[in-house]
Amino acid sequence: MIAENQNSKVLVFDSGVGGLTVFHALLEQIPGLEVIFVSDNAGFPYGTRTEYSLIGRVHRVLEQLIIKFSPDLVVVACNSASTVALPSLREKYDIPFVGVVPAIKPAAELSESGHIAMLATPATVSRDYTRQLIADFAPDKEVMLLGSTELVELAEDKVRGISPDSDRLKAILEPLLQNPKADQLDTVVLACTHFPLLMDELKAEMPHIKHWVESGAAIARRVSTLLPQQGQAKQGQELTGKSLHQAWLTGDDANINALKAYLVNLNCDHLQIISIDCHD
Ligand code: DGL
Repeated sequence: MIAENQNSKVLVFDSGVGGLTVFHALLEQIPGLEVIFVSDNAGFPYGTRTEYSLIGRVHRVLEQLIIKFSPDLVVVACNSASTVALPSLREKYDIPFVGVVPAIKPAAELSESGHIAMLATPATVSRDYTRQLIADFAPDKEVMLLGSTELVELAEDKVRGISPDSDRLKAILEPLLQNPKADQLDTVVLACTHFPLLMDELKAEMPHIKHWVESGAAIARRVSTLLPQQGQAKQGQELTGKSLHQAWLTGDDANINALKAYLVNLNCDHLQIISIDCHD
């Protein structure tokens, strides 16, 4: 356990920029925290991988990241990975792991019409874990599932300055919106950490939705209960004006400068490619 009032170091891990939605919530809710964000862009996308491939990948990459950064806590900021890899990660390491799983329970509590949509990756949509969440927390609700890797790609592009094409977005959402009961939907669960990055565009396509449910704030609350109270910003940060936070990529990025500019807005002025052995 870390002493009271010291800055804790949290590793936020995702296949891509989706983890930045969790990174942002942590910075907003827990001042003084030091956050290391790692995007496993060399292993992207996670949402088309089998359980076996994804569990192996996450273990291999995190093993090296935990040695390099010695975090006090790890957030697996990825639904696709959390729904399959958390039990084995918790078994292997002593540090706490916080995962992101589809927010079916809060959505079921919010929905008045009893019709909920869940947007996620194809992997998350097909997981037993997701099916069980629906059976446990929304047995009396109609839950429409849409799994899309293209939606993940639109979010990746958006943080690199490429505006999502609305025709493409319409085509992605079409199977959902063509459902005969689509007009009864009042709640949408964003069960992929990339999707809150597209919130404005999604709202424009589905203006009748009352409740958009995402996990960032709840994850930050969970993290704060597992860490001691945070101290003030570190002295070095006050003196140099440099941010405490760092972002790393596991592979090259053709648009790295656009990504850097996006990160600066999140108070993160350090972005580097990490050298780890991460072959599948
Ligand atoms: N952000 C991830 C999630 O929450 C996955 C995106 C991907 O790599 O497919 O599921």
